[in-house]
Amino acid sequence: MPIIAPSLLAADFTKLGEEIEMINRSEADWLHVDVMDGVFVPNISFGEPVMKPLKKICKKPFDVHLMVVDPDRYLQYFKDCGADILTVHYEACPHLHRTIGAIKELGMKAAVSLNPHTPVSLLEDVLADLDMVLIMSVNPGFGGQKFIENTYEKVRKLRAMADKLNPNLIIEVDGGVNLENAPKLVAAGANALVAGNAVFKAENPEAVIAGLKKA
Ligand code: DX5
Ligand code: ZN
Repeated sequence: MPIIAPSLLAADFTKLGEEIEMINRSEADWLHVDVMDGVFVPNISFGEPVMKPLKKICKKPFDVHLMVVDPDRYLQYFKDCGADILTVHYEACPHLHRTIGAIKELGMKAAVSLNPHTPVSLLEDVLADLDMVLIMSVNPGFGGQKFIENTYEKVRKLRAMADKLNPNLIIEVDGGVNLENAPKLVAAGANALVAGNAVFKAENPEAVIAGLKKA
């Protein structure tokens, strides 16, 4: 069964406590936390003032997706904010191998995300060091965008690489994931799914999470 990580970005920020209670009750495995700096992506989201209080009430691990330039400056910061899995973008890291090592030294799981235009082959030489790769199925920066169909092929290619270099690799897909494309993503080799709008804008978010879990 895939890991399901609802994305906090799509939650109702006027009632975050209730949203976290829903996540705690649900079959969600992780909480996906999107951090945007307004430079790497056009949008600005949130950081410590939102994450630290939520960490106190959320029973699920924090899957933190950094959409920021020069993330090396903030690895300890996000560890302190409660990150269990920390994802940096390939496109934001000139010394990716060093960054991955630093994340693990801080006791977090290390992941790298690829924008839609970045080929999976560029990860060949660090794949064995990674706990997870996050394939972006939209251009990062906003929730509620249309899923890019080329993602299936990308996941298949990455799963084939991982079979040789890192069989335990988690492949997470993020952007426009819903009940319709989730089974196809799992069939292609994904085993973690992020879903923002599909979960939080649904009439019954817990039922959607349970449905994604069956993908
Ligand atoms: C986009 C974020 C996603 C986003 C997903 O930049 O990384 O995690 O919240 O939202 P949906 O599922 O609505 O596309
Ligand atoms: Zn994300």
